[in-house]
Amino acid sequence: PAQNDDQVERSLVLVKPDGYRRGLTGEVLSRIEAKGYRLAALSVVEATPEQLAAHYAEHEGKPFYEPLVEFMSSGPLVAAVIEGHGCITGFRTIAGTTDPTTAAPGSIRGDLARDWGLTVQQNIVHGSDSPESAAREIAIWFPNGL
Ligand code: TYD
Ligand code: MG
Repeated sequence: PAQNDDQVERSLVLVKPDGYRRGLTGEVLSRIEAKGYRLAALSVVEATPEQLAAHYAEHEGKPFYEPLVEFMSSGPLVAAVIEGHGCITGFRTIAGTTDPTTAAPGSIRGDLARDWGLTVQQNIVHGSDSPESAAREIAIWFPNGL
């Protein structure tokens, strides 16, 4: 067959409040679709403290944790589930590395984000980093299922 997307992998993508506020949601979703991944779920939400504590549990106690949670609470964000073979690593590749200053040109963060001199990186998107993280994070942002 020309395509084999049977082993559907899913990833949780967030367009963070900076991306939403700057009107970059369409640009991010466009890059996801242009890459060939499907949108399985899509929602505009204001994150609850409980969602953010669960989502960023691995970072609790780190110096950037409190500003990160404050930033993620600063306005609406877009939660999406994307689907497609390899989409977890694939999305993180099109997102670019965490620090937008050095993220590669051509990536979402490299093209669209920058350092604003704050204690947290406003880097437009989140993408799950493993199948286990994806399952955990999808349940946080889509508690009623897809
Ligand atoms: P992390 O999971 O390490 O990065 P990624 O989003 O690329 O998976 O960190 C989560 C978020 O925390 C990151 O997107 C931005 C913020 N952050 C900082 O502000 N400063 C830092 O030094 C790190 C590591 C993360
Ligand atoms: Mg991460």
